[in-house]
Amino acid sequence: MSERIAGDISFVVKGETSEKVFTIDFARRVAREGMSPRPLYVLTAPASSVSQVVAGAATWDDIFLSLRMTFDERTDDFVAHFKPLLRYMDAELFRELERYERRLDGEEETIDVMFGGEMSGTSFPLRPEGGRVQERKGLSAESSTTTSSAAMKILVTGGAGYLGSVLSLLLLRAGHEVRVLDNLMYGGKSLLAMAAQEGFDFVHGDLLAGGTLRNAVRNAESVVHLAAIVGDPACANHPELAKAVNQQASFDLLAAAQATGVRRLVFASTCSNYGRMADTSVLATEDHELRPVSLYAETKVAVEREMLGLPDGPLAATVLRFATLYGLSPRMRFDLTVNEFVMELLTRRKLLVYGEQFWRPYVHVWDAARAIMAVLDAPHDIVAGQVFNVGESEENYRKLDLVQIIQERVGAADVQFVRRDEDPRDYRVSFDRIRSKLGYAITRRVPDGVGEIVDAIESGILADFGDPMHSNVAPG
Ligand SMILES: NC(=O)c1ccc[n+]([C@@H]2O[C@H](COP(=O)([O-])OP(=O)(O)OC[C@H]3O[C@@H](n4cnc5c(N)ncnc54)[C@H](O)[C@@H]3O)[C@@H](O)[C@H]2O)c1
Repeated sequence: MSERIAGDISFVVKGETSEKVFTIDFARRVAREGMSPRPLYVLTAPASSVSQVVAGAATWDDIFLSLRMTFDERTDDFVAHFKPLLRYMDAELFRELERYERRLDGEEETIDVMFGGEMSGTSFPLRPEGGRVQERKGLSAESSTTTSSAAMKILVTGGAGYLGSVLSLLLLRAGHEVRVLDNLMYGGKSLLAMAAQEGFDFVHGDLLAGGTLRNAVRNAESVVHLAAIVGDPACANHPELAKAVNQQASFDLLAAAQATGVRRLVFASTCSNYGRMADTSVLATEDHELRPVSLYAETKVAVEREMLGLPDGPLAATVLRFATLYGLSPRMRFDLTVNEFVMELLTRRKLLVYGEQFWRPYVHVWDAARAIMAVLDAPHDIVAGQVFNVGESEENYRKLDLVQIIQERVGAADVQFVRRDEDPRDYRVSFDRIRSKLGYAITRRVPDGVGEIVDAIESGILADFGDPMHSNVAPG
């Protein structure tokens, strides 16, 4: 198959008195040395601004867009990536229109936009839900993968945690109102940057305390449920607490959400539910058999069943099975493989690796947060009762690969591999569903995350990596 894929996509915007064409170039993100060459398409600069084009039209009524694309060579691979790309462009377009709408200065104007598109005679329905651009608070490119909905009131349980603190920041930045419920097992520093922000509310409470859940859920339109005893070792150390928090409290939260009219519930599950795969040459899709091999995964599987067993109704429950996370967060965790390996190799120049040949997928913590936002933004029917693996199929690595990537950045170190023939967790995962249904694509890869952690440590931003608050594997 040809390696060369480049070209442009043209929109034709027609109004009563004008017709203008603007072009968006696309380019292949250059595969990094040593990384898989699977292309990810990213948009480069638009050749002209959509708002200028729209401004040239006489009325809003008959502005419509048609899509024409040209490219040097068509490959199946390009076609596979085409739909998500369109969704992304859709969001870009909305941002432009929103800016234009703001310039109307107070006039209550709603813009109807009709989308049409074609590629080699095939039509792509691009019309977003309702086909309307309504008041939305500025979503940044960082936080948006799909067209965005209006600002929501969102409860984030575990919002002080590694993933929760990043998510809460992004949600606030996107203009949502965020309430965090957390018992601050690992302290509250991660919330400092948000504590004084408008739209932020904190409930210091325990999921297990009577009444806490119901109070926290009150008035929330959406709930993102992250609070848990997280990881195999932490659950093994505190099995009763893990069952109570991860399982029973999640059932209670689901009941409270139903009772109070919550519309969206996103549950954080894990790809480790796939356990040990018989054949890692085939990537596990969401329909793959679940083989939980730890109490942690057992509790996640039990909650998944409950969420997915919900009858059709106004509450859309969605299960996200995250790959193992890495990267910088206001609540840093150094018990996660990539983060731990970087820290050890950089600061101690030594690392002991168990079972270097076993596979796992990895996803950056910011991209994990973006996936949650993509679900919250998506139409009800696309996400209700659905499971999505969160990550990118090319981001499955063996520990051996991770060590190699990190050493390329930090130089050679003393690494000892302790071979294991049995590891209960050995899985490679497919992330095609989230890409095709939600138009979701990651923005960072493992080498990016490695680089940012190295920079943070070398520059002194991250100095307290020995602090037990940075690990979920506390003694006892
Ligand atoms: N980190 C990963 O690699 C990963 C991978 C897959 C899934 N997940 C899931 O994502 C979610 C977030 O994980 P994380 O890495 O941010 O973990 P984390 O341990 O950093 O965050 C969990 C948060 O929940 C809070 N919490 C725990 N028990 C509570 C209780 N009883 N009441 C109120 N708050 C409580 C903690 O104080 C903490 O802030 C978890 O559900 C986890 O299972 C994480």
